[in-house]
Amino acid sequence: MNIIRVAIDGPSGAGKSTLARAAAGKLGYLYVDTGAIYRTVGCYVRARGLDPGDGEAVTAALPQVSIEMTHGDDGLQHMLLNGEDVTQAIRLPEISRYASAVSAHPGVRAFLLEMQRKLARERSVIMDGRDIGTVVLPDAEVKIFLTASPEARARRRCLELEQRGTPQPYETVLREIQERDWNDTHRDTAPLRQAEDAVLLDTTELDFQASEAALLRLIRERIQA
Ligand code: DC
Repeated sequence: MNIIRVAIDGPSGAGKSTLARAAAGKLGYLYVDTGAIYRTVGCYVRARGLDPGDGEAVTAALPQVSIEMTHGDDGLQHMLLNGEDVTQAIRLPEISRYASAVSAHPGVRAFLLEMQRKLARERSVIMDGRDIGTVVLPDAEVKIFLTASPEARARRRCLELEQRGTPQPYETVLREIQERDWNDTHRDTAPLRQAEDAVLLDTTELDFQASEAALLRLIRERIQA
């Protein structure tokens, strides 16, 4: 059986993970959330009390970081940091900031690159992140740049936080999204950008069902499944 690699990149809060997970379920592919890997490094840096902006200190600490990704029967991706399950901890709002800061360091990106590529060699995947189509899997069979306006993304994120019981004011969420967009697109190493051969999918005006249908259509068209 041919291995199909679907790369989905885009800014935070565009719905990448929810949509990619749903599409992977329908296609029978493995879903890999690469943001969770950067979040796991962020978690370690925070636990060690390191400054996430200090590239030298963060890079020097990497040999002590062991990251494992497992997929349970529930289909959910679990992250293990030095043997400890940090799947919940990496979703804390503070970790978003740590993940964004540590992801700017070339040493961190190099450290995580092979781990991501290996996952895509073993079976068909939908992998989401910021640099999957440009750096991690430049030969992916399908590349999609998934985005939505910052305001739409902030509204969705607010709803999600509310449902989790950790509501945040809209203005705060919007500001954080704008800050992360800026950080993710302006770093020197592997900045967020649309690969030349990626298809743009803008979900600003689409609800979940319509976004999922559009995503599946794009993938199926390209793999003719
Ligand atoms: O997708 P996310 O919000 O969980 O990602 C957390 C941070 O990790 C985000 O600010 C950017 C970074 N990231 C990255 O630089 N490259 C990736 N492939 C995935 C995430």
